[in-house]
Amino acid sequence: MDYLTFFLVILYVYKALCEEVFWDTTVKLAENMTLECVYPSMNTLTQMEWFKINMMERESIAIFNPTYGVIVRKPYADRVYFSNLTNASNDMSLSFHNASEADIGFYSCSLHTFPHGPWKKMIQVVPSDTFEVAVPSTSQTVSELGKNVTLTCQPQMKWQLQQVMWEKIQPHQIDLLTSCNLSQGSSYTSKYPRQILSNCHQGMRRTFITMPHATASDSGLYRCCFKASTGEIETFVMRLTVTEGKINNHYILFMVGGAALLLLLVLLITIVTVISYKRRRRRQKRGLFKEYWDTPYKSANNLRSPVPTNQPSDDTGEDVYVNYPTFSRRPKTRI
Ligand SMILES: *[C@@H]1O[C@H](CO)[C@@H](O)[C@H](O)[C@H]1NC(C)=O
Ligand SMILES: *[C@@H]1O[C@H](CO)[C@@H](O)[C@H](O)[C@H]1NC(C)=O
Ligand SMILES: *[C@@H]1O[C@H](CO)[C@@H](O)[C@H](O)[C@H]1NC(C)=O
Ligand SMILES: *[C@@H]1O[C@H](CO)[C@@H](O)[C@H](O)[C@H]1NC(C)=O
Ligand SMILES: *[C@@H]1O[C@H](CO)[C@@H](O)[C@H](O)[C@H]1NC(C)=O
Ligand SMILES: *[C@@H]1O[C@H](CO)[C@@H](O)[C@H](O)[C@H]1NC(C)=O
Repeated sequence: MDYLTFFLVILYVYKALCEEVFWDTTVKLAENMTLECVYPSMNTLTQMEWFKINMMERESIAIFNPTYGVIVRKPYADRVYFSNLTNASNDMSLSFHNASEADIGFYSCSLHTFPHGPWKKMIQVVPSDTFEVAVPSTSQTVSELGKNVTLTCQPQMKWQLQQVMWEKIQPHQIDLLTSCNLSQGSSYTSKYPRQILSNCHQGMRRTFITMPHATASDSGLYRCCFKASTGEIETFVMRLTVTEGKINNHYILFMVGGAALLLLLVLLITIVTVISYKRRRRRQKRGLFKEYWDTPYKSANNLRSPVPTNQPSDDTGEDVYVNYPTFSRRPKTRI
């Protein structure tokens, strides 16, 4: 396995950040796509129905009843199917064979269970081109299988916070994990099929999510998003890797190496940009040299974003600083 790719990978992600969401999952339109819907397993299903939500009304797509079975409505008959339906499972996911632009929109997986009553998951299908914004991860957490893993995030902004959200980001979909309204001090219970603990209270400056008993499927990118009452938004993306057994030192070494390499790359790009900018300016004015060479320092500091969640990300920070002097000195010899 190439460990460096962990750091050089750049994912394509839906643009919307910290919007006031009323959907639980955003799915990228694809010919073959699945709208996931897994309800809490301690409940007994009485009936479920998939709807497409149009402007004014909702259109029934398919209905399932444990006693009477499945009916897929006419316009969808050959295009959708329950991909994981068994009479003992709580997975009501709906898959499309041949989805097209016409399938963009909102969907709801609505069901009744006994004894809890109604339960609903909202899903948004978006055009694939609006899903494409590069998001590099800014920190790394490695956890062992079965441990309780906690990710933390702290905003740098000083404004009063209004909303804090956590999302799990995958190449084809984004799941809302928690959404906390700070003025109410209450959080929205997501429909993500996994237990997630989080904090939510008025005046908090730091957010965490805890996932008890980490599994391999918890690996991936997580994003936390802060929204201030003034509308300012700050987000951090972090990568979680759940490994089997002991975390070996080689692994961490590769991680740190990869992170250092990425930061050097960013630094090089910054330097090249600064050099070309400076060359342009030098024709107009001389003697501003010192000022420009402070810039790489600053931009690299900003890269050290969120609160390091454990050892590996801490170490990357250290490495980066060691490398600075060599890099910022080099261009001076050019004069
Ligand atoms: C969608 O699924 C069909 C049948 O399984 C397959 O032939 C087709 O290549 C798939 N399309 C894409 C874009 O993966
Ligand atoms: C169906 O369920 C199994 C087991 O829960 C899971 O591994 C698989 O990914 C699911 N498939 C789909 C298409 O959701
Ligand atoms: C599942 O459904 C089949 C028929 O559709 C039935 O024979 C079987 O007993 C059911 N299993 C359970 C566990 O309800
Ligand atoms: C998919 O849809 C297109 C047009 O919407 C149609 O021409 C094509 O035959 C469909 N393919 C399948 C496998 O249903
Ligand atoms: C948070 O709660 C307050 C008070 O109920 C409400 O006015 C506001 O719209 C909520 N904000 C969000 C983002 O849901
Ligand atoms: C992990 O989380 C579970 C469920 O919240 C809890 O019961 C358990 O004590 C935790 N274990 C550790 C080692 O913190």
